[in-house]
Amino acid sequence: MYRRSPSLDAIDVFSPTRYLAGIPHDDFRLLRTEAPVHRHPDPQRPAGFWAVTRHADVVQVSRSSPTFSSNRSTCFLDEVPDEKLAEQQLMMLNLDPPEHSRLRSLVNRGFTPRMISRMRTRLEQACASIVDDALRVGTGDFVELVSAELPLIVIAELMGVPMEDRSKLFEWSVHLASTPELGSEQATTAAMAVYQYANGLGAAKRSCPADDIVSRLVAPDDTGRELSELEFDLFFLLLMFAGNETTRNAISGGMRAMIENPEQWERLRSDPDLAPLAADEIVRWVSPVNAFRRTATKDVELGGELISEGDKVVVFYSSANFDETVFADPLAFDIGRTPNPQIGFGGGGPHFCLGRHLAMHEIEIMFRTLAERIHRVELTGPVRRLRSNFINGITEMPVRLIPA
Ligand code: HEM
Repeated sequence: MYRRSPSLDAIDVFSPTRYLAGIPHDDFRLLRTEAPVHRHPDPQRPAGFWAVTRHADVVQVSRSSPTFSSNRSTCFLDEVPDEKLAEQQLMMLNLDPPEHSRLRSLVNRGFTPRMISRMRTRLEQACASIVDDALRVGTGDFVELVSAELPLIVIAELMGVPMEDRSKLFEWSVHLASTPELGSEQATTAAMAVYQYANGLGAAKRSCPADDIVSRLVAPDDTGRELSELEFDLFFLLLMFAGNETTRNAISGGMRAMIENPEQWERLRSDPDLAPLAADEIVRWVSPVNAFRRTATKDVELGGELISEGDKVVVFYSSANFDETVFADPLAFDIGRTPNPQIGFGGGGPHFCLGRHLAMHEIEIMFRTLAERIHRVELTGPVRRLRSNFINGITEMPVRLIPA
């Protein structure tokens, strides 16, 4: 048992407003050192939940499925009512193996390192054209000018979404992320719009298949089994949301870190080959996904605490990525950091981010391109962050771009 200080009960690392000024590093540091597995009080939910904040414990939970199960929801903290559980478990995010493995195998092939490295030239072209266009405009919102476009183009191309529909998808994705908790009315409306769109696209690909993920998802698998309409809709929503929101915020947050640490920007400019290491540091520093939830399926000990069957357990990647027992000087943004065992893509285990190779390529190539073509990026106004406890995001970052 860890010694608890009364101040721990005042900490609320689940409040969306707590993230408006950035990751609450002081709160997380206190939790990591005094109560790394902390029974988080929650006035709305008498049972509360366990906040897991150390790197080693986040890794352990992530790799201990089904003891720490995904199938009573991973994004919502509220208990999913039994009548909604079946629908919820149609999405691979909310399944444990072996059901999870069946769904994941449908898309795994499209995201292997080999498949992604084939996209390198396309990514280089896309980054060059985005950065050149942004330079022509010169001033504006960095999120709109630079960060938003690349993940959207890439995921839309992989999925087979026609060019003219991409901005619609972007809007829905923003609505889904900009709510304090997923499951709100605004998020539900956006999800419905996405389902409707997905159904139309699925039907088109069924009659005219192409070499893309949607065509693969609507085709029967090796055993002849097909996804139901709802299974397909949920898959589409997951890939679109996961592929967009995260990478966009990594690019915006990474540039903000460069602006705040000009010596790191100069270092990248003088040695663009540092871009792969910089990409890891950006994912660590930004931690675009703040947390995910699991549910204990039996009584189990974790970090000196007894977790009871049925307890909710929330793993905070944005705390684990600043764990002082793993990262030297964790609050320093160091684009040459090696080793860098960041767990922004999850702590391993069955749900380890499907798109991590893709995201790392996108971030690496985007920052290489930016460093080669831009001399300096200056802030021209306040940076606005997303009010969310799920995504560490930037909604607006007014800048001036000075060409190299
Ligand atoms: C899962 C982070 C980009 C698709 C996850 C998880 C995290 C994460 C933390 C949960 C891991 C776990 O529960 O163990 C990120 C970050 C990204 C990123 C930080 C960008 C910097 C992408 C991209 C895609 C993607 C580009 C492309 C489609 C997914 C999917 C899952 C997932 C489908 C669920 C996997 C499963 O349930 O098996 N991601 N992700 N992600 N990610 Fe990513």
